[in-house]
Amino acid sequence: MSGHKSVDIGVGKPLPLVGLGTWNVIGDDVGPTVRTALEAGYRHIDTAYGYENEAEIGQALEDCGVDREEVFLTSKIPPRRVGFERETLDGSLKKLRTDYLDLWLIHAPPQPEESVPLWRFLVAAREEGKVRAIGVSNYSTAQIDELVDATGVVPAVNQIKWTPELFDRERMAQLRERGIVLEGFSAIRLTDHDDPTLAKVANAHSVTPAQVLLRWHVQHGVVCLPRSVRPERIRENIDIWNFELSADELRLVDAMSTVV
Ligand SMILES: NC(=O)c1ccc[n+]([C@@H]2O[C@H](COP(=O)([O-])OP(=O)(O)OC[C@H]3O[C@@H](n4cnc5c(N)ncnc54)[C@H](OP(=O)(O)O)[C@@H]3O)[C@@H](O)[C@H]2O)c1
Repeated sequence: MSGHKSVDIGVGKPLPLVGLGTWNVIGDDVGPTVRTALEAGYRHIDTAYGYENEAEIGQALEDCGVDREEVFLTSKIPPRRVGFERETLDGSLKKLRTDYLDLWLIHAPPQPEESVPLWRFLVAAREEGKVRAIGVSNYSTAQIDELVDATGVVPAVNQIKWTPELFDRERMAQLRERGIVLEGFSAIRLTDHDDPTLAKVANAHSVTPAQVLLRWHVQHGVVCLPRSVRPERIRENIDIWNFELSADELRLVDAMSTVV
């Protein structure tokens, strides 16, 4: 069926449009969650230094015996780790049991004067080969432009909160114009699954409102990062390739936006 499953960010390995979100997935939940996701076909895992689950994810990936090259692995440096960038990166790598990350993000903007120096560290880490691609999260377009003006290096990704209610065509266009991939987070958690528009579209395709939300992301070329610890939902959230939203249906979901 139609629909791209990944996007090319120029690092040799495509970025899958569906990734496993792992915020709040900790302890004994990590192993079974990662294993179920890999079995269901996920090849993209989104974690962060601050999620305190990198060690368990590294262990799970090793236990599953999946080839490192097959998985797109993202981690993030929190702004509170400014001044400890090297320790943070080396810590993430060690816990994840790998010698490189596919994508390393600044988790959120640090103090304004720290943003460009921190970005320079990410650029250097990429040059060293410890990370293949670098990006940001929770950055405004103006904050991104500041990084690009200072360094000439454009983030591969901006990971931001993204739901139908927050749908912002202008922001999406700004990122696209700059060649930056939008990764959206928290749509499942922050959307009313009983919304009549979602229910109507879901019924038309015999899928769930969550699947409509995720399909809406990927048809816009937006990466989604659904998180669940329930096996049936982990499978449901990547089972979105056998239906397609029509142009009218996409417009209906877009129109849930309250962004003016
Ligand atoms: N960069 C950032 O600042 C940032 C911030 C937030 C999130 N993120 C990333 O984005 C990922 C996703 O965001 P999120 O964790 O906030 O929320 P989410 O994936 O939108 O929602 C997760 C919640 O929805 C439930 N759920 C999952 N699949 C479902 C389905 N098919 N039907 C109904 N309910 C379902 C889960 O419960 P069950 O587990 O019980 O199924 C969980 O409570 C995070 O895990 C993280 O990787 C990044």
